Amino acid sequence: MKFSVLAGAALLAGTALADVDPIVINTSKFFYKTNGTEFFIRGVAYQQDYSGGGANGDSSSSNSSTYVDPLADSASCQRDIPYLVALRTNTIRVYAIDPTKNHDQCMQMLADAGIYVISDLSSPSQSIIRDDPQWNIALYQRYTAVIDALAKYNNVIGFFAGNEVSNNLTNTDASAFVKAAVRDMKAYIKAKNYRTMGVGYATNDDSDIRVNMANYFNCGSRDSSIDFWGYNVYSWCGNSSYQKSGYEARTQEFQSYSVPVFFAEYGCNTVRPRQFSEVAALFGDTMTKVWSGGVVYMYFEEANNYGLVSVSGNSVSKLPDYSYLSQEMASVTATGVSNSAYHPSNTAAQSCPTVDSKWAASEKLPPSPNAQLCSCMVSSLTCVVQASVSSKQLAQLFNQVCGYGVCNGITANATTGVYGAYSMCADMDKLSFAMDQYFQAQIAKGNGASACDFGGSASTQATSSPSGTCSVLLGQAGSQGTGSVAANPTATGSSPSGGSSSSAAARPVAAPSSVHFGMWQVGAYVVTAAIAGVGMIIL
Ligand SMILES: *[C@@H]1O[C@H](CO)[C@@H](O)[C@H](O)[C@H]1NC(C)=O
Ligand SMILES: *[C@@H]1O[C@H](CO)[C@@H](O)[C@H](O)[C@H]1NC(C)=O
Ligand SMILES: *[C@@H]1O[C@H](CO)[C@@H](O)[C@H](O)[C@H]1NC(C)=O
Ligand SMILES: *[C@@H]1O[C@H](CO)[C@@H](O)[C@H](O)[C@H]1NC(C)=O
Ligand SMILES: *[C@@H]1O[C@H](CO)[C@@H](O)[C@H](O)[C@H]1NC(C)=O
Ligand SMILES: *[C@@H]1O[C@H](CO)[C@@H](O)[C@H](O)[C@H]1NC(C)=O
Repeated sequence: MKFSVLAGAALLAGTALADVDPIVINTSKFFYKTNGTEFFIRGVAYQQDYSGGGANGDSSSSNSSTYVDPLADSASCQRDIPYLVALRTNTIRVYAIDPTKNHDQCMQMLADAGIYVISDLSSPSQSIIRDDPQWNIALYQRYTAVIDALAKYNNVIGFFAGNEVSNNLTNTDASAFVKAAVRDMKAYIKAKNYRTMGVGYATNDDSDIRVNMANYFNCGSRDSSIDFWGYNVYSWCGNSSYQKSGYEARTQEFQSYSVPVFFAEYGCNTVRPRQFSEVAALFGDTMTKVWSGGVVYMYFEEANNYGLVSVSGNSVSKLPDYSYLSQEMASVTATGVSNSAYHPSNTAAQSCPTVDSKWAASEKLPPSPNAQLCSCMVSSLTCVVQASVSSKQLAQLFNQVCGYGVCNGITANATTGVYGAYSMCADMDKLSFAMDQYFQAQIAKGNGASACDFGGSASTQATSSPSGTCSVLLGQAGSQGTGSVAANPTATGSSPSGGSSSSAAARPVAAPSSVHFGMWQVGAYVVTAAIAGVGMIIL
């Protein structure tokens, strides 16, 4: 008896047992793992109340305190998936999921529909901030929690470790922190023995930095370079052309790139309705040699007018853009190459850009967040900050204590590639370290009696001399915190992501994670939720 796959799927509908073939990467292409057919992303960005993106995006206008997890509400997934399927969508990009929620139902419905997921790891309040970049304990916890939440689903292609973090010449140093995140998340996926999933980056399209950006993330050791490159491109507006839109130039730039590249967002809306004539180019023979498709920005209509549909409660209305995209998608056929017939020559990484006036991120990356190290450090201090200080006081105290020149152990400079061993610790812990440095210096001068005070914000605690692992870690960090700590936290099996050894558990954390200090440059802590915001396109 011949049992048709379709009939089987129909029988099982409701109990939903279908699973997808994982997507694997070979050099610069995606493939279905089992049959080796090349995989092209026909993607749609799928996240409600997320209005920061688009070509004229302003990330600071998006609500940075909340987000709606698009994969946690099965009723919305059920409502929307048919509309995605009708566009031949095989991938959605989600920008922020809540790792504490259950995603089984949405992920199964998506799998049943043959739809894969690429998820950003950050959230509006927890991301690498371009003007005050850090790769720290809190972000490590957020990123690993998202990976833990999604790793079990075969329809996850991978993750973005950042979206448009560096976006112009003034903030290229921030890319070092993103690349450190890439390195640590790749190591984390390996250490946890998860299925191979890629860790990539999604960039804006700024003519001053785009070549250096692409080279930087694809240079140096494989262990710290990206697995795929997402490009947020809004340069094809109205009836443009392959040449005029800049697509031709971009395609040439990526000809020898050694990992897959695709549009992580596209769909300029300066001419509306959007007729999506770029779809034929993107999935045509010329571009598919270099690109693996793209993700249309976006499903939901929001204030920024990029929606394909408008949603109200349980009802979905197709907007004009939807029908145009649908027509275009229906007529593309990208066949590509099969894995077995693929003999790539572009396997070499790029050279890292030289640090100069146009590029400020060193090849030398920030240290891995290591909660155990921070916890050992705090336990070893005599003078520590009071748990009750407010976030405003915290900023002032950094300002004051770092003015005494005792902050080398807690600062990070991605341009010089010099990072304090404790630069990845929580703000409270960093402040305690600096206060104690000052206190110890005063003791040495015979002025110790009143030096641990800081207007009543600091006090002394009992310490015992460090032993075991703490003693080793602190020895590597050195008394001023300027040494480098070799231990890879994931390799030792001691997760830096909190748990009982975390410094956050040992000491109350006063500062909400959404507050970022420009260290002692008080006032520099404007929260720019870096998950959004495409800069102006300068061609
Ligand atoms: C390979 O598998 C995918 C999904 O499992 C399917 O869409 C595709 O058609 C298959 N390729 C071939 C050549 O059968
Ligand atoms: C942002 O979200 C918070 C919490 O839900 C809400 O109180 C606030 O009004 C929202 N702000 C804007 C601008 O939507
Ligand atoms: C560069 O980006 C910063 C945000 O990091 C912004 O304040 C500044 O205006 C931008 N500069 C230019 C020249 O676009
Ligand atoms: C774009 O081209 C299509 C087909 O060639 C045409 O129908 C449409 O009116 C043009 N749109 C604009 C804005 O020029
Ligand atoms: C990549 O393709 C080459 C050529 O077909 C093949 O030898 C190799 O095993 C493939 N690697 C992966 C990871 O699929
Ligand atoms: C890094 O160090 C260089 C050289 O001392 C300095 O010019 C630059 O301002 C520093 N950057 C940061 C972010 O502190």
